Amino acid sequence: MIISSNPIEIINQLKAIVGVQNYIEDTSQMDSYLKDARGLFQGLSPLILKPLNSEMVSAIVTLCNEACIGIVPQGGNTGLVGGSVPGKSGLEVVVSLERMNKIIDIDPINYTMTLEAGCILSEVQTAARDVGRMFPLSLAAEGSCQIGGNLSTNAGGMAVLRYGNAKELVLGLEVVLPDGSIMSGLRRLRKDNTGYDLKQLFLGAEGTLGIITKAVLKLFPLSTNKATSLVAMSDLGSTTKLLAKLREFSGDNITAFEYMDRACIDTLIEKTDLEDVFSQKYQHYALVELSSSRQDANLQSLLESVLEAAFVDGIAIDAVIATSETQAAQLWRLRETLTEVLRSLGAFIAFDVSIPVSLVPEFITKATKFCNEFCELGRVFAFGHIGDGNIHYYLFEPEDGDTDNFLAKKSEIKTNINDITAKLDGSFSAEHGVGLVKKQELKYYKSHVEIKLMREIKKTVDPNNIMNPGKVL
Ligand code: LAC
Ligand code: ZN
Repeated sequence: MIISSNPIEIINQLKAIVGVQNYIEDTSQMDSYLKDARGLFQGLSPLILKPLNSEMVSAIVTLCNEACIGIVPQGGNTGLVGGSVPGKSGLEVVVSLERMNKIIDIDPINYTMTLEAGCILSEVQTAARDVGRMFPLSLAAEGSCQIGGNLSTNAGGMAVLRYGNAKELVLGLEVVLPDGSIMSGLRRLRKDNTGYDLKQLFLGAEGTLGIITKAVLKLFPLSTNKATSLVAMSDLGSTTKLLAKLREFSGDNITAFEYMDRACIDTLIEKTDLEDVFSQKYQHYALVELSSSRQDANLQSLLESVLEAAFVDGIAIDAVIATSETQAAQLWRLRETLTEVLRSLGAFIAFDVSIPVSLVPEFITKATKFCNEFCELGRVFAFGHIGDGNIHYYLFEPEDGDTDNFLAKKSEIKTNINDITAKLDGSFSAEHGVGLVKKQELKYYKSHVEIKLMREIKKTVDPNNIMNPGKVL
């Protein structure tokens, strides 16, 4: 192909690669591709491309690389750090994987699924369930996020405690590299000790090193036998003690251990039709789920006996155990609705930190002490995947406060909370990634040696900086 230097000519060539039905050039139709899920970033683009296969992706990337045109790979565009939308230059094309949404193969004996990157996560879960297997990745956006985005951002969610992050659920990848070549690594092997594990480069790279086009995922036995409970505790230290106890006495059958503080429950009661599960108010709650593929495992009575022991030890002070699937779903609704409800409360500063599990109580205590002193009357909410040491920590402007004044303090607040996190050996980004939002934090908190190596890898793999330019590094 002859590469033109005329932008209009290049746009025409890109359109020709995907064919008439598979692009958008009318800017009035692009909104959902240009704005991020939190509405914080609004980019511009001359063209949204929707390739149908890896060869088309490869042709797009080859052309863009030769012409030095930036590419923003996009899945469901549900990310929370601005990584999946173009910048404001209006020169980057968006490559949406939405039309590459075929499941290629499911192998229930090998416990694997091979699929294209644009498959919606909930459809992947269903396809696995249909053959009596489970794909455990589970998060609030599962009805619209795509597996390629999940892998590129190394998504976390509700089941990491038992099954790991997205990157731990992958056996093989096909990736279109920035020079347009296709790295075919769709291996369905659990053991493949053949030098550098190249697929890891692209898992969590947020589209800065290539475009994931296909993957081989790990499947698990389908756990339909479940026991779910909401447990109340009077102090933070009890939360992690309860988790440790549950892991020990459940044979590590604990699938989820999600934390919510009193402020979260108060807000859910005030803003939704959800009700308090208990007649008394408590300060700390854990939503606990045990699960097993063994139908004869009596998880309900196992959970009861661990909780009884926790009452005796003074760790837990109250608990409800769901007696039906409907009741379990109601308990889960508390946690699943929370993020959306909090987003409607006004201006806030959000942290997605991880801390060694045993130090989470210390983190929440120190962060809250700082916020209460620094931002009197600001409202603090702590919740999240405490079982993974991953806390979502939100500080809201005072109810009748001055938003500008609150946001003017943002950088000082961020520095302080991130410093508390770093001193506890934590990470400023547990599961949401870096994107645009946490680039400064990456520069500051990651060691020079690591940053240097990241830059060198980026330069080697993507010398023209066409892949999701301006993100992460
Ligand atoms: C959650 C999102 C914020 O866990 O990660 O609800
Ligand atoms: Zn989360």
